[in-house]
Amino acid sequence: MCGIVAYIGAKKARPLLIEGLKRLEYRGYDSAGIGILSDEFGLEVAKSVGRVSHLENRLKELGGFDGSIGLAHTRWATHGGVTEANAHPHRDDKAGICLVHNGIIENHSALRKYLMERGHTFHSETDTEVLAMLIGELYDPENGTDLEAAVQTALREVKGAYAIAVICENEPGVMVCARKGSPLLVGVGNEEFIVASDASAIVAHTTQAFMLDDYNVVKITREGFRTSTVDNVEIMPKVTELEYELEQIELGGFSHFMQKEIFEQPASLRTTLGGRIDHNEGKVVLGGLAQFAKELVKAKRIILTGQGTALHASMIGEYLMEDIAKIPTECEYASEFRYRNPIVEDGTVVIAVSQSGETADTIAALREAKDKGALSVGVVNVVGSSIARETDMGVYLRVGPEIGVASTKAFTGQVTVLTLIALFMGRRRVTSPERCARIMNALDAVPDKIEQILATNDEIRRITERYVERNNWLFLGRGYNYPTAMEGALKLKEISYIHAEGMPAAEMKHGPIALIDEGMPAVFIANKGSQYDKVISNIEEVRSRGGHVIAIATEGDEEIRSVAEEVIYVPGCPEPISPLLTVVPLQLMAYHAAVLRGHDVDKPRNLAKSVTVE
Ligand code: M6R
Repeated sequence: MCGIVAYIGAKKARPLLIEGLKRLEYRGYDSAGIGILSDEFGLEVAKSVGRVSHLENRLKELGGFDGSIGLAHTRWATHGGVTEANAHPHRDDKAGICLVHNGIIENHSALRKYLMERGHTFHSETDTEVLAMLIGELYDPENGTDLEAAVQTALREVKGAYAIAVICENEPGVMVCARKGSPLLVGVGNEEFIVASDASAIVAHTTQAFMLDDYNVVKITREGFRTSTVDNVEIMPKVTELEYELEQIELGGFSHFMQKEIFEQPASLRTTLGGRIDHNEGKVVLGGLAQFAKELVKAKRIILTGQGTALHASMIGEYLMEDIAKIPTECEYASEFRYRNPIVEDGTVVIAVSQSGETADTIAALREAKDKGALSVGVVNVVGSSIARETDMGVYLRVGPEIGVASTKAFTGQVTVLTLIALFMGRRRVTSPERCARIMNALDAVPDKIEQILATNDEIRRITERYVERNNWLFLGRGYNYPTAMEGALKLKEISYIHAEGMPAAEMKHGPIALIDEGMPAVFIANKGSQYDKVISNIEEVRSRGGHVIAIATEGDEEIRSVAEEVIYVPGCPEPISPLLTVVPLQLMAYHAAVLRGHDVDKPRNLAKSVTVE
C-alpha cells in the first residue's frame, strides 16, 4: 500500500528519495510525489500519476529540487481517485507545511468542515490534506507552537491510523514524524536520518534504526532527534540493528522477485527450521512459546486467522492442530471474525498469521480475540511489526524480506511454523514420540525435496504454456491439500488475471462441475495419501466431461498417467507435510502463466503487498 521515505542530512535528498521510492514500489501504488526544501528554491513539490519513473522524468525536466531535506510518497488510492491533486505530499495554505501520510484519518469530514469554516480552501479529496491544513492552522511559533508542537496538538484531535512525515518552510532544518497504527522506522546514519515505512528503503544507507511506537512523535534535525508522545512526554527509543541484507531486497540475477522467492524456498525454510528441531530430545524448540508452554498445552480451542495466502496457510494449520495436537481448531477470515461478535471461551488460543504483521483486518481480529480473553500467538515474518508486538508470544517465519506481491516463501514459512507449533503442543499432549519423530524428519527433508521440484521448472513451464490461453481454471484437492488448491487458484488469478477457482475436489459435483467444458484445465493435487482413490474418481469425472487434467502426483505413481493429460511429480512425504511440496509447482505455474501473458509479475494491477486498510 502507501509508502513513505524521508531524508534529512548533508546529501542531496532527491536521488536518495527516488531510490527509496523505487524500493517501495513492490508495496503497490498508483501515484507518487516528492517535496524538497532548499535555501535557493524554498519548498518545491512534484507529483505524478503512475510509476515512480514518471516522477523521476518530471523532476529531470523541472530542475531544482536541490535541497538536503525532503519527503516522498507512493500512494495507493483510498480517499479520492488516482489524480495528481490527490497524490502526496499535501500542503497547507498558511504556514508552509508539507506532509506525507500512510493510513486513514477517520474523522476527516468533521475536521474538513471545521477548517473550511476557518477559511481554508482544499484542493484534493483526501483525508491527508485535512491533516496538513490542521497542522498549519495550529502552527504559531510566536506563541510557542512550533512544528513539533503543532503536530502533537493536531494528532490529539485525529481519529484513525497514521504514519506521517512533515516539513515546514518556516523551519527548514526540522522534520517531524509520527505514528499510530501504520509502521514508521527512523534510520540513524552519520549526521543523517532516513525515515521510511519499510526497512527496504533504509538499508542501503544504514542498518541502525528504531521503530516508532503508536502515539510517538519524533523531531529530527541534522544534529539529532527528540522523541516524545503526542502529549509531549519525552521518551527514549532503542536504536537496534536491522536484520536485513541488501542482497535480500535485490533481484540477484532473477527476472522477478516472485521467481527469486520461489527459488529461495529451500534456503528460507532451512532458516525457518534452523535450531528449532531437537532430534536427540525428540522435541520442537520454540523459544517464543516456551514461557507459555503450560497454557498452550491446556488450550481447549484454537482459532487461526489471517487473510489471503496467510488464510490458506491457516486452513492447513487447522488440519495440523487437530491431527497432531488434537485440539479443536477453527480457521476464519480475520475480516469476518472481527465483526461477528465471536464467542471466545476460557482456554481459547488465537493464532494470527501474517507475512507483514500489518494487515488491518488481521490486527483487528487479534484485538477482538484478545479483548475477549484469548491467549494470542503471532506467526509473522516482519520483525517488530504490529502483530508481533501485540501478541502475547510468537514464532517468526525467518524467511527474509518478501518483496513479490504474490506471497510464496512466506506461505511455506507459515505452514512450516504452524507444523512446528502443532508438534510443540502435540508432543506435550498426546502425540507419540514416534509420530513426532516421523514428522520432524520429514520437515527436515523438505528443503532438499523442494530443490528436486525446482529442478523440473522447465517442464512445468512447458505444461503451463500449453494451457496459458485458457481463461478459466479449476484447482482441486482434498484434506491437507484442499487449502493448497485454494492457494494455487489465488496465485494464478492475482498475477496472470486468469479466472481460477480453488475448492475441495468433492465439492465440484455440487455445482462447479457445470463449468467444465472441452479443454478446461483442472489442476488436481493428487499426491498419494488417505484420499488418493477419491481424488482419482474426481479426476475421472472431469475427464469424462472433456476437461483437461494436470495432476500434481507423487513420484513413482505411474497409474495416474492413465487418467491425467499432464503429470507433475513431487517427492513422497507424510500427508501433513505434503502442502509444502505440492504448492511449489502451483507457484511456478502461476509465475510462468503471468510471464507468458506479458504481465508485470511483481506489480500486479490493483494489488498492494500489505493491506493496511480494511
Ligand atoms: O501480510 P499478510 O500475510 O497479512 O497479507 C495477507 C494477504 O494480503 C496476502 O497473503 C495476499 O493475499 C497476497 N497477495 C497473496 O499472494
